[in-house]
Amino acid sequence: YEWNEIALSIAKEVEKEILPLFGKPEGGKVIGVSPSGDKTKLVDKIAEDIVLNALKPLGVNIVSEEIGNIDAGSDYTIVVDPVDGSFNFIHGIPIFGFSFAVFKGSKPEYAMLYEFMTKSIYEGISGEGAYLNGRPIHVRELNEKAIAISFYTRGRGVELINKVKRVRVLGAIAIELAYLAKGSLDGVLDIRNYVRPTDIAASALIAKEAGTIITDDTGKELKFDLSASEKLNIIAVNDKRLLKLILETI
Ligand code: IPD
Ligand code: CA
Ligand code: CA
Repeated sequence: YEWNEIALSIAKEVEKEILPLFGKPEGGKVIGVSPSGDKTKLVDKIAEDIVLNALKPLGVNIVSEEIGNIDAGSDYTIVVDPVDGSFNFIHGIPIFGFSFAVFKGSKPEYAMLYEFMTKSIYEGISGEGAYLNGRPIHVRELNEKAIAISFYTRGRGVELINKVKRVRVLGAIAIELAYLAKGSLDGVLDIRNYVRPTDIAASALIAKEAGTIITDDTGKELKFDLSASEKLNIIAVNDKRLLKLILETI
């Protein structure tokens, strides 16, 4: 399969159907509960139905945020978050994206994150690199006097805020990891034990291919199941000195 073409055509279809609902309370109507216990909103459902209709004929396994696992007995598993950043979408904050990751067995092969409002296409190809609109991207060099991070916490490690210059918490971790990959942030961490594999599967490959170090909250390489319900802690940084600072603090 040409995964890039498949991913982009699904992203464009999702875009066409959901953008008219951007910032409208209607899109936030609760219509179910996801496998991780989150509420499924109308916008999530519209987007996921498009994804499922497009992928089912391919006979691949699917893991999607609202519906969970569909095992088709295939070697390939597509891990999707049809809309990452639903709160932002519903409340008119323009940071949300479509996240699509292809695994062969347990190994990531290809990933796309589509950022709807900027029409940015982020891609990660295992062993090859990361791209934004076809151009290679890389994490930036750390300047220890001007660290910028996204930091999700419920109190743990709050001291970290005093050790960095800027904190930007944008409400769509898939997008924030892509920003890290392109060199706009130095780190992204969520230590609420709340992130699910569906949130980060695509962006983790993109970030990794762009030079990001990705660990759990103990500094070990981040491992996750292809699941829509596993809860994770994640630390993603552009430099091991920043990882050290974070691990000393949290
Ligand atoms: C959410 C976003 C957000 C994170 C939440 C997720 P959703 O995903 O990734 O950044 O803080 O934990 O639930 O529900 O908008 O797909
Ligand atoms: Ca998500
Ligand atoms: Ca979602």
